[in-house]
Amino acid sequence: MIMDIETAEAFEPLLIPARYKGAHGGRGSAKSHFFAGLMVEECQAMPGTRAVCVREVQKSLKESAMRLIEDKIDQHKAKGFRVKSDSIETPGGGVILFQGMQDHTAESIKSLEGFRIAWTEEAQTLSARSLEMLRPTIRAPGSQLWFSWNPRNAADPVDAFFRGEKAPPDSICVRVNYDGNPWFPAELELERQHDAATNPARYAHIWLGEYEPAAIGAIWDRLTLHNNRRHEPPTMSRILVAVDPAVSNEAGSDEHGIIVAGIGEDRRGYVLEDGSLKGAPRQWADRAIQMYDKWDADAIVIERNQGGDMCREVLKSVRPGLPVIEVHATRGKHVRAEPISALYSLGQISHIGTFQKLEDQMCLMTSAGYEGEGSPDRVDALVWAFTELFPAIIKKPVKKQSARRDDFGVGWMG
Ligand SMILES: Nc1ncnc2c1ncn2[C@@H]1O[C@H](COP(=O)(O)OP(=O)(O)O)[C@@H](O)[C@H]1O
Ligand SMILES: [Mg+2]
Repeated sequence: MIMDIETAEAFEPLLIPARYKGAHGGRGSAKSHFFAGLMVEECQAMPGTRAVCVREVQKSLKESAMRLIEDKIDQHKAKGFRVKSDSIETPGGGVILFQGMQDHTAESIKSLEGFRIAWTEEAQTLSARSLEMLRPTIRAPGSQLWFSWNPRNAADPVDAFFRGEKAPPDSICVRVNYDGNPWFPAELELERQHDAATNPARYAHIWLGEYEPAAIGAIWDRLTLHNNRRHEPPTMSRILVAVDPAVSNEAGSDEHGIIVAGIGEDRRGYVLEDGSLKGAPRQWADRAIQMYDKWDADAIVIERNQGGDMCREVLKSVRPGLPVIEVHATRGKHVRAEPISALYSLGQISHIGTFQKLEDQMCLMTSAGYEGEGSPDRVDALVWAFTELFPAIIKKPVKKQSARRDDFGVGWMG
């Protein structure tokens, strides 16, 4: 017996056979439910189906679609399935597996040859390597690759694949949103309204499936950040923890921007960690010193601004003898930021992994100022770090040495 699971209209194009099926959109648009239901239907329609549900990273089965597929089986009283501890047996001796692509090697992925369906959930995080491994592996006659995702930017491999210049052959891709989900629950509607009121900058991304926000005339762009991104830093020659402390610590006040950045032996710049936080002065000082120890950094860079000596005193009170470099702002923050953004454009600075909030702030910095809400504390800290790091490599080879106070980074800035 073939079941007939009800489908939201927006997904109907995906019911006809195609090698590549994609559904992209914002939260709550029924993407996961649709593909979970389709998986159960496909396994019933074609006995012996072997299928795999993948994510880029799967730390535990809880993160997988296993539970959702079990629910669909129960809900529709689908016959012939058996739920095991980490897989589901399907009618006619098939199986559904749940795996993280990062756990696969070029060798191990071969175990999936002969599989008829591969569904990638949260496919916006799928790496180019994973997509390239998956496509030729799923090659059984009539095999299908499904992808569900909330777009981040056009450079994400899944987005470039489906929505780039040339759509893949034999593919169907739909755009879906919460307003096309007939089962959109009241709880999510409350969440959505709350986000619309409190987080307008990210609302269109989270709920409408638009790319992440970037300002017109922004001095950084997602594509460059993405293209420069690396997974591992090289051996580092110099590491700094840069802090842009917020002026007041009242509730709702700005964050303390804390960025760990350095220069590699390859003389390129790397952002290693974003440790920004809200809180009292003692808290930023503790965090900055914690980062300093963790990364075995060479110094802490702080802006000597309205606070005068205050920031240095706070740090020294926590850790006497700490190498502190004080920098002084003589120009507006976007003027200071532009040379650093130029280094990114030249491919000279890489983020090790993704720093969501920092990157959001960066893409809202324009040559006329910051277009986001509040103050771009993370960008400020980043700019101080690289202003300090780059004169050093331009002037002379980097030596490991503790930094001197008043060692202002002005050379590169002119
Ligand atoms: N076929 C369905 N039957 C029942 N409820 C559904 C169905 N599809 C979606 N929903 C409801 O809509 C919510 C959002 O769907 P989900 O698939 O999680 O969206 P997305 O993956 O797009 O974020 C679910 O939590 C569920 O409450
Ligand atoms: Mg989902």
